[in-house]
Amino acid sequence: MSTFVVTTIRTPEDLRAALDVRTRVFVDEQHVPIEEEVDAYDREALTRDDVVYVLGRLNGEPIATARLLFNAHEGLPHIGRVAVLAEHRGQGYGRVVMQALHEAARERGRLGVTLAAQLQALPFYERLGYVARGPVFLDAGIEHRDMDLRFD
Ligand code: COA
Repeated sequence: MSTFVVTTIRTPEDLRAALDVRTRVFVDEQHVPIEEEVDAYDREALTRDDVVYVLGRLNGEPIATARLLFNAHEGLPHIGRVAVLAEHRGQGYGRVVMQALHEAARERGRLGVTLAAQLQALPFYERLGYVARGPVFLDAGIEHRDMDLRFD
C-alpha cells in the first residue's frame, strides 16, 4: 500500500528535497529559468515565521511541494510553487498538498488564500473551490490568472 505524507519543512534536507522537486517540474519540464524559480523566500524559508513550506513524501520519497507566503502581498496569503512530479500526477497528491496549506492558513485565522494559476492548472484549483478573477497575464513566459479561495 502507498503512503503519502505531507509535512511542514523545518530542516535543510527537506528544503533541498522540495527545491529538487521544483527544479524537476518548473526548470526541467516547464523551462522556467532557475534564477526566476528560486527567490529570496526560498533562501529564508527556514528562518522566516511568515512562510510555510510543505513537502509531500510517497513511501518516503519526496514527490510534491508547495509554499504559503503570509506577507508577500496585501490581503489574502499567497500559495505558490505547487508541484507534483510528473510520474505521480492524477493520484490526488496535489490536492492533499493544497489542503495542508489551507489548514495552515486557517490555523492563523485567515479567511482564505490566493494564488496565480497557470492556465493549464486552472481546473485543478477550481476543483478545490478557487474562483478566477482578472485578466490573463504572463509570468516567466507562462499564461496565468489570479484565483481566490474563501474558506467556509
Ligand atoms: N486539468 C484538469 N483537471 C486537473 C488537472 C488539470 N491540469 N490537474 C488535476 N486535475 C484534477 C484531477 O483530475 C482531480 O480531479 P477530481 O477532483 O475529479 O479527482 C483534481 O484536479 C485533483 O488532482 P490531483 O491528482 O490532486 O492533482 P495532481 O497531483 O496531478 O497535481 C498539479 C496537480 C497542477 C500540482 C500537477 O499537475 C503539477 O505539478 N503540474 C506541473 C506544475 C504546475 O503546473 N503547477 C501549478 C502551477 S500554478
